[in-house]
Amino acid sequence: MYARVIGTGSYLPGSPVSNDELAARGIDTNDEWIVTRTGIRSRHLAPVGTTSSDIGLIAAQRALEMAGVAAAELDLIIVATSTPDFIFPSTACLIQNKLGNKGATAFDVQAVCAGFAYALGVAEKFIRSGSHRKALVIGAEVFSRILDWKDRGTCVLFGDGAGAVVLTASETPGILATALHADGSYSGILNVPGQVCGGQVTGDPFLRMDGQAVFKFAVRVLADVAEEVCAAAGVASSDVDWLIPHQANLRIIDATGKKLGIDRNKVVVTVDRHGNTSAASVPLALDEAVRDGRIQRGQKVLLEGIGGGFAWGAALLEF
Ligand code: UT7
Repeated sequence: MYARVIGTGSYLPGSPVSNDELAARGIDTNDEWIVTRTGIRSRHLAPVGTTSSDIGLIAAQRALEMAGVAAAELDLIIVATSTPDFIFPSTACLIQNKLGNKGATAFDVQAVCAGFAYALGVAEKFIRSGSHRKALVIGAEVFSRILDWKDRGTCVLFGDGAGAVVLTASETPGILATALHADGSYSGILNVPGQVCGGQVTGDPFLRMDGQAVFKFAVRVLADVAEEVCAAAGVASSDVDWLIPHQANLRIIDATGKKLGIDRNKVVVTVDRHGNTSAASVPLALDEAVRDGRIQRGQKVLLEGIGGGFAWGAALLEF
């Protein structure tokens, strides 16, 4: 029994905000620096008050529609997010309620930019165990909420968005292998080191990053975890039809593709238009390439993600 993707959906809030527009808002930056260092040209920023459950809901509805599955049929809902609406209840429960589903297992997964790989891996294991049959896996983020707009080294890199997939138990191959890893000794190089305590925010509620340390770490482990899932599935990386990498930086994407020997025209890139949408970046890119006809049924698709924790993971699936 496999867990097979039968629907994808995504949603980007508001309209694109260009690099020039950020500079015009008073951030000490310029289009040339951002494009050269990251490949990012624009990103979407959610209007104030728009939450992860609002945008995750729309992505979920689109994925359910493509799958031809009613919300009531879902028995598992997992949301990957580091920007939940509330401390609790989980964003998964909020989306469950908005969808009108009752009784499904619903919870959030917190693995930052590796969140979608983690949530997909968890859902796959529920389905393969035979305990669940129809899962909705969502990555939804409003990172604009946790950005320090005075820190030009981070605020230009991120965007808001949501992506989702519907999985079903199937005898036809679907997810072939997943691998999930973490090393908490690197928690200091990318974090939001704040908390709510006694009614006050204590510590620092904004995203902080040592960009160069993150860059080096990502390039080192992403190709390894991609090779790990290929080896587990008995598929050569040269036989992968599409690589859908976490969309943080075009230079990291290029370096990983090169290490894996995957041609640039087989790599789905959205970072230029979405920026880094954390847990949403992979399902957003997947949905784009499914809807524009690049990804076809039966093709091998390799997904990978990495983020704060540090946590990283990959999944190889036959679409
Ligand atoms: O999901 C995982 C999340 N994160 C990532 O994957 C990010 C990984 N890291 C990176 O992508 C890169 O390290 C960055 C894009 C964040 C930074 O690129 P870099 O080549 O490592 O630049 P840097 O941080 O070493 O900064 C170089 C210069 C500095 O100026 P000085 O000290 O050399 O005069 C910065 O102040 O660039 C300056 N700078 C900027 N200039 C214009 C930093 N941010 C900006 C900016 N606009 N937005």
